[in-house]
Amino acid sequence: MVKDVVLPEPIAREGLRILGIETSCDETAAAVVVDARDVLSSVVSSQVELHAPYGGVVPEIASRAHVEFLIPVVARALLEAGIDDDQVDAVGATVGPGLIGSLLVGVSAAKALALVWGVPFVGVNHLEAHLYAAFLEEPDLELPIVVLLVSGGHTLLVLMEGHGQYRLLGSTIDDAAGEAFDKVSRYLGLGYPGGPAIDNIALEGDPRAVEFPRAILDEGYDFSFSGLKTAVVNYVRKNPGVPIPDLAASFQEAVVDVLATKARRAAREFNAKGLCLAGGVAANSRLRERILDVCVEDGLRVFLPGRSMCTDNAAMVAAAAWWRLRSDGPSPLDVGAYPNLRLPVA
Ligand code: KG4
Ligand code: ZN
Repeated sequence: MVKDVVLPEPIAREGLRILGIETSCDETAAAVVVDARDVLSSVVSSQVELHAPYGGVVPEIASRAHVEFLIPVVARALLEAGIDDDQVDAVGATVGPGLIGSLLVGVSAAKALALVWGVPFVGVNHLEAHLYAAFLEEPDLELPIVVLLVSGGHTLLVLMEGHGQYRLLGSTIDDAAGEAFDKVSRYLGLGYPGGPAIDNIALEGDPRAVEFPRAILDEGYDFSFSGLKTAVVNYVRKNPGVPIPDLAASFQEAVVDVLATKARRAAREFNAKGLCLAGGVAANSRLRERILDVCVEDGLRVFLPGRSMCTDNAAMVAAAAWWRLRSDGPSPLDVGAYPNLRLPVA
């Protein structure tokens, strides 16, 4: 529930324009969002091409690129939103979790802009921001809901009982779901980032071609994906002629099967009103299809943010900043960057 914090004018009024800044990994992003509802602009400058030759994100390259791109991206976000800098009411930026060098660029810039413009600064938890992507499209989403947050760095099953009120039901004990997609893609020579590559090629494959293991499927809400990656490697060694689309589709099916089965069980056990997807892997076509089927069968509401809202962006950061501003007020300007920040769970 939103705590009863008395905010000074003009922060308490409606129509608050928040500039969101996201630099936790390899996307330099800025957005202007009004009251966590109306996205006036959302600019994402992807560094994919810079990191692709290395098969993954190189932290040093990421932070240097953020330094170069962030201010032009902010300027573009203001331009596209059709507002001047004196019309920004607050600045929210991701303070963690993420790569320390990358985070420092966004946090420093956001605090400096807030100071110069004389507006509140709000430090945002990147994981909470992913949860709030769904609220941008469905602001009146009825709680409690079960959120499956699946990204390159995290795999969390969360019961969201109120705004800012989360219960962590389970998480991965080894690789994150997106990490598994990226590693298997690299192994199969499909390139980086792996998720979209596997998603695409799997469309031409048979998901039942290889029966890969579904780790800890029937036990609790934790996940494990490192054994699945090893199973793919072992299978290819024994069957070198196997068609890549079949492998990709079968691997994807195993990941999606575990994610959808556990999310469904959690929604039933905790009487959730709906199921929501968040994080980069939530852009996966097969996962979206399965979650949609589950929700139709179980009479649950389904919240699938648009694909551009699933991967890292700053609109979700601005939305989370708005909710945090309402519940906790502005953050102090001596806030740091926290690479291992966790979701604030009960
Ligand atoms: O949320 P995100 O943009 O960044 C992190 O916070 O990690 O997620 C990136 C991850 C990568 O591992 C990427 O391969 C995965 O999301 N991803 C996908 C798809 N699009 C992105 N995984 C599966 N299918 C996709 N279509
Ligand atoms: Zn993310």
